[in-house]
Amino acid sequence: MIATSLLTLASFFLAASGQLSPTFSRTLSRDGRCIYSFTVASPHEEASCSEPGEALAAVRELQRDRAAQQRQLESLSDRLRLLEAKSQGESLSLSLSPAPGQQGDVRRLQMEKLDLLRRLESMKQENMQLRARQCPSAETLQDSHQGRQSFSSLSSRQKTQPDQGAYNWSFENAGYQELKSEITEIPASRLIQRSNAGSPATTLHSSGCGMLEWVGEPVTFQKADNIAGKYGVWMKDPEPVPPYTRESIWRINTVGTDIRQLYEYHDLDQFMRGHPNKVYVLPEPVESTGSVIYRGSLYYQKRRSRTLLRYDMKTETILVRKDLPNAGYRGVYPYSWGGYTDIDFAVDELGLWVTYSTNQAQGAIVISKLNPNTLETQQTWTTSIRKRSVANSFMICGTLYTLNSYSNHNAIINFAYNTNTNSSKVLNIPFENRYRYNSMTDYNPAEKKILVWDNFNMVMYDIRLSKV
Ligand SMILES: *[C@@H]1O[C@H](CO)[C@@H](O)[C@H](O)[C@H]1NC(C)=O
Ligand SMILES: *[C@@H]1O[C@H](CO)[C@@H](O)[C@H](O)[C@H]1NC(C)=O
Repeated sequence: MIATSLLTLASFFLAASGQLSPTFSRTLSRDGRCIYSFTVASPHEEASCSEPGEALAAVRELQRDRAAQQRQLESLSDRLRLLEAKSQGESLSLSLSPAPGQQGDVRRLQMEKLDLLRRLESMKQENMQLRARQCPSAETLQDSHQGRQSFSSLSSRQKTQPDQGAYNWSFENAGYQELKSEITEIPASRLIQRSNAGSPATTLHSSGCGMLEWVGEPVTFQKADNIAGKYGVWMKDPEPVPPYTRESIWRINTVGTDIRQLYEYHDLDQFMRGHPNKVYVLPEPVESTGSVIYRGSLYYQKRRSRTLLRYDMKTETILVRKDLPNAGYRGVYPYSWGGYTDIDFAVDELGLWVTYSTNQAQGAIVISKLNPNTLETQQTWTTSIRKRSVANSFMICGTLYTLNSYSNHNAIINFAYNTNTNSSKVLNIPFENRYRYNSMTDYNPAEKKILVWDNFNMVMYDIRLSKV
């Protein structure tokens, strides 16, 4: 299936952007597995164009969605025809109008069909936008001395151990993380030492602290209108400094090769209307969706580096640059969905944190408490949760929580690591990924809510903490 969709995709890609001239090949490995590979020359880093890898991954997903919806639509149409025929037949033979219940069924099916048709149409449009953004010209590419991007995949029929990698791929500057992520989402439960799973005797004194016990349904506030916003981060400042307030909202769309735009909104109303009150152009490009806003600064990871930056919004300058020692970056230890989510800031009742992993930790999540003024590491914890096996994480009251899936509608918060007691705990708190592509999950301690960027959509969740 995966191989087939790659094939389809390769031909789509050829058709959609002939000027990129990808090469495609199929070989048989010694153990009899079929290996499909294709290679696409990388474009110049133009801000106006998506990286082919990113656009490609998004196109692929849209196509999958569309195929599924098409099937759904066909089956709905069939049911609709049957029902219509049935109610007509009955009304003819009995000279009566169809049973009210049946009429209701027909109406409901017709509504569903209309809704599906609308969704199909909007997906077609997204697809067209994606094609339009594949814009590097043939001339610039042919003479380009830039690296080539490639990946290959083994036929899924012979799919082996997922975490040994059914895919074989390499890339120099591509955004193929997303594809790879499909196979690295593995259970992390065996990583948790039973001896560790003691009950956390939390005695935090921060206001309103406790353990997470419930997450509400997502409420959607905004939807990005182009591919640059498929992934992103939206933020509030739990401890704002004037002129900012707790109502202020910031947003970064993170699909692209040179992400520098930080949008600022006065309040939720302005945010929902989509009119930024200011756009900052950051002096250094942003990597992925890990940034936070705290006490008037944007904290973010500089692209292609383990450098943490503190950007002061009032003076529009970078106040602090600091490397995060040994931290993996650029796809070494991302969350399961990929997207170079190696380094993730978090803010909670206790302050500023960063989660990442290192070779020493062998891919397990490492948490460091940071001094927000200097970005110095104050203390570091190494958990037993493998970073690649979870979809995202956030901190509440000094405890790290992880999400098991970025794409399952019914995901769960599956682990907690308490930095107070250095102990892990297995959890099973339902969490809905309504739009099935969660690329950012952060907690806002001022409002006690979780903010998420889910497949173009900016959503928020209520939570409940246990009393301590
Ligand atoms: C995987 O890729 C590497 C480097 O590109 C190559 O040396 C190796 O032979 C490939 N393995 C398979 C099974 O294709
Ligand atoms: C927890 O781990 C930290 C960092 O390794 C250490 O400084 C602290 O003493 C530990 N606390 C407990 C209660 O074991």
